[in-house]
Order: sequence, then structure tokens, then C-alpha cells
Amino acid sequence: MLNAPAPGDKVALSRQALRLFAGRAAAAWRHDNRPLPPSRPARPEAPKLLSPSAMPKRGKGASLQGRIALIHALTHIELNAIDLAWDLLARFARIDLPGAFYDDWLRIAAEEALHFSLLEKRLGTLGSHYGALPAHDGLWQAATDTADDLLARLAVVPLVLEARGLDVTPTMISRLKAAGDPQSAAILERIYADEIGHVSCGRRWFEHCCGVRGLPPARTWRGLVEKYFRGRLKPPFNHQARRLAGFDSRYYALSDAADDNRPKGVTTKNGRR
Ligand SMILES: [Fe+2]
Ligand SMILES: [Fe+2]
Repeated sequence: MLNAPAPGDKVALSRQALRLFAGRAAAAWRHDNRPLPPSRPARPEAPKLLSPSAMPKRGKGASLQGRIALIHALTHIELNAIDLAWDLLARFARIDLPGAFYDDWLRIAAEEALHFSLLEKRLGTLGSHYGALPAHDGLWQAATDTADDLLARLAVVPLVLEARGLDVTPTMISRLKAAGDPQSAAILERIYADEIGHVSCGRRWFEHCCGVRGLPPARTWRGLVEKYFRGRLKPPFNHQARRLAGFDSRYYALSDAADDNRPKGVTTKNGRR
């Protein structure tokens, strides 16, 4: 998957892997001497990848071009998500984790493949295609930064990046509906429901790994985010969706200026917490 540049191959291989290995992914992936995955996954020639600062402003417009730009950006995020799931499976395959860990990420990889496919198809219906616009090259940074530590990977990828998706998706769905595009909105609703599951899975395995290492989950998460996440946590948070994922505000309360649990007078050097 990670060495296949074509998105269609990543999708097909992810689905095939789920069919072949569901329920016994650990036996397929947990090996001591498997080579490490590539530091960056293979990607197609298009879209052209730009640094985040060079990306054209997308705006919030309801126009066809605005909606295409939004869906193109989300399609790119889902392609990254396929690679992130496989990188996690391949990179941390040496760690002795319960078989359910591998099965969970096998299923997540297949769900990310479905998300990519749904959005890619929608782009086609709207008269565009994946690769027609430039895309953000910063998305793999979190994988690079956390390549040495599963706990850091779980803290940042599902519990910062995918949790952020839960915060912003309801507004996107509302805007698409208001723009008269219920089909795109329905795809995002499907993705939103699945992503609650991905955050839940990330939180479960994060807490499992904390338990194994004897670490307190919420404080450990905040320390890892401080160390490994380059961006800023941005309130407002979608407390309802985060709670559904079991990712409650004990973790991120200090990040939310509006949260009642925020201890008075707590500040940090970079204002993230
Ligand atoms: Fe996804
Ligand atoms: Fe996801």
C-alpha cells in the first residue's frame, strides 16, 4: 500500500487486505524482522504538493469551485489517512500488542479507502478529479515526527488530527446543505460517523499503551502533544462527538478557553493549553 503510488491501488489493496486478513491481522503483520515502511509513502504525480504556506486560500464559498476545492482538500486528507493507517500497522508491527489492535487498524485503513473513493467519485460528478488542484504537503509531517513512538503517534494522529476533523465537519455539512449540495453533505455525514470510531479506537489503544507503561493518560497526552504536535489545538471543540469517542475533556480541557473545567490562571508558553 505504502509503496503503491496510484490511489486506486491503495484503495483496492486496503479492501483486499481487509477481506483476506480480517480477524487475524496480527498474524499477518506482527513480525520482528519486517523491513520498516518508507519514510514517505509513494504518491501519484498529481496533485502537485505545496507547502502549507503556498496553498491558495480556499475560502468558504458555496460556489461550485468552492465546493470542489473543499472536496479536493478532503480527498487528499483521506488519501493520507489510508497511508497513515498502513504506516501505523507496518511501523509498529514489532510491538507486542493484542491482535485486536491490528484488526482495528486494518478496518480503519479500509474505511479511509472508502472515504477516499466516495469523495473522489463526488469530485468526478462535480466535473473535477483528484489531482486537478494542488494539495497540502504538510499532512505527512505528523507521521515523520512520531515515527519512533507509537504512543506519540496515537496522541497526535487520531487524538489531535482526526479529533479536529470531528470539530470542523458539522459546519462543513451545514454549509454544503445550505449550498444545495446534499449529496456531498451525505458523504461527509458518513465520514463523520466513521471518524468518531477512529478517534475512539485511537483513544482506546492510547489508554491501553499508557496502562502498559504505567502512565496517566490525560497528562501523558498533553505532554506528547506539547512535544510532537507542531500546530495549535483550536477550540471550539465538538464535545459531543469527542465524548462519543470516549475522548472527554479531561484530556483537552486546558486547551479550551471556553471550558468550565479550565483552572483559572493557567497559561503556557505557547498558549496551546
Ligand atoms: Fe477518513
Ligand atoms: Fe480516520
